[in-house]
Amino acid sequence: MRKVRFGIVGTGRISDWVLKGAVLEPRFEAVAVCSRTPEKAEAFALKHGIPNTFTDIDRMASDPSVDAVYIGTPNDTHHDIAIRCMDHGKHVLCEKPLASNALEVREMIAAAKRNGVVLMEAMISTLSPNFRMIQEKLGTLGKPLHYSGTFCQFSSKHDKLQAILAGKDPGPVPSSFNPDCSGGALMDIGIYPIYPMVTLFGKPKGVKADVTTLKVPVSDGSMKAIDIQGIVLFGYDGMSAQAMYSKIADSRLRTEISCEGGILSLDQIHITRQVDFIPCGAPTSGRSSGPAVEDITVPCDPDEYLCEFREFIDVLESGRLESVNNCLGNSLAVAETMDEIRRQGGIVFPADPIPLP
Ligand SMILES: NC(=O)c1ccc[n+]([C@@H]2O[C@H](COP(=O)([O-])OP(=O)(O)OC[C@H]3O[C@@H](n4cnc5c(N)ncnc54)[C@H](OP(=O)(O)O)[C@@H]3O)[C@@H](O)[C@H]2O)c1
Repeated sequence: MRKVRFGIVGTGRISDWVLKGAVLEPRFEAVAVCSRTPEKAEAFALKHGIPNTFTDIDRMASDPSVDAVYIGTPNDTHHDIAIRCMDHGKHVLCEKPLASNALEVREMIAAAKRNGVVLMEAMISTLSPNFRMIQEKLGTLGKPLHYSGTFCQFSSKHDKLQAILAGKDPGPVPSSFNPDCSGGALMDIGIYPIYPMVTLFGKPKGVKADVTTLKVPVSDGSMKAIDIQGIVLFGYDGMSAQAMYSKIADSRLRTEISCEGGILSLDQIHITRQVDFIPCGAPTSGRSSGPAVEDITVPCDPDEYLCEFREFIDVLESGRLESVNNCLGNSLAVAETMDEIRRQGGIVFPADPIPLP
């Protein structure tokens, strides 16, 4: 079996996390890591048994011993790094969101097409075994009527952000809250309920967003708005949909897809580990009778990040250039939808065209 030889870009927490899943895929091999500093590259290489280190992305991307690149850097850097790697003929698996905005996504898609390489957004939610099971089950449940997706997670960077805002920490604002890095709640976690919705039902026709923002200091010395949570209604023909996301509040609300034949109830949308099917007519009180709720969960992968490497390598081996669930059309539709949410919420990134279309 020929292994796909990966170069890893960025030595932060996410690169560390995904590698634990990637190494469970027998066709995966990490052969290089690129960091902005040699010390971090070497420490990461030592920790993960990676033979080659780089501090220059073009040098890693032009190395013939690298087949593909995984990009685990802040959102504003994805577009430039990905295009440079693709122009050197490398396949690219890029962290979510694929880029800062739809314009950048279009440019990345053009680069993938002109170089004949695979470009895939590393969105695990739509590749997990339970999501694939839900997709099949949906085909048996008649018309979809309502989608309600939730991902609310109190941020581990919240205290640092508060200290910066109180003048007790000189900063900079962490990338996930920083407009300079194309951060914010929507880009960081709001994408998790939205990408699966687009994969299942296509791009919504309408968007109505209610976004909570605050102002944070950015690199030019000014204060700029960033979103910390949001609730969005989406318009579809014959069905309604909503997404709720937050980086300042936790929630244990399940994600639900209601259809004519019943409800699919997911423990969480970003990584679905448990699914109930509630048939139409199932009792809602102890005195009613009707069909029983079924636990239809399928076994999960041993690591949640394994699925994105398995999918990426399957696509490469099949000779296709795109994943079915994480296809470029879905990534673009998600980016366009998120651009509209940001436009309504007044969130602007330095990477954006002015005005945001
Ligand atoms: N799939 C998931 O579950 C998941 C979870 C969290 C985050 N993410 C995504 O992963 C990406 C990184 O997020 P994060 O919170 O880990 O970001 P981060 O900690 O700010 O940065 C990650 C790494 O990127 C490199 N980096 C930082 N700034 C850079 C720059 N200006 N140019 C090039 N490289 C830079 C750094 O590595 P070096 O110092 O080695 O250069 C850093 O450790 C984001 O796109 C985020 O949405 C995904």
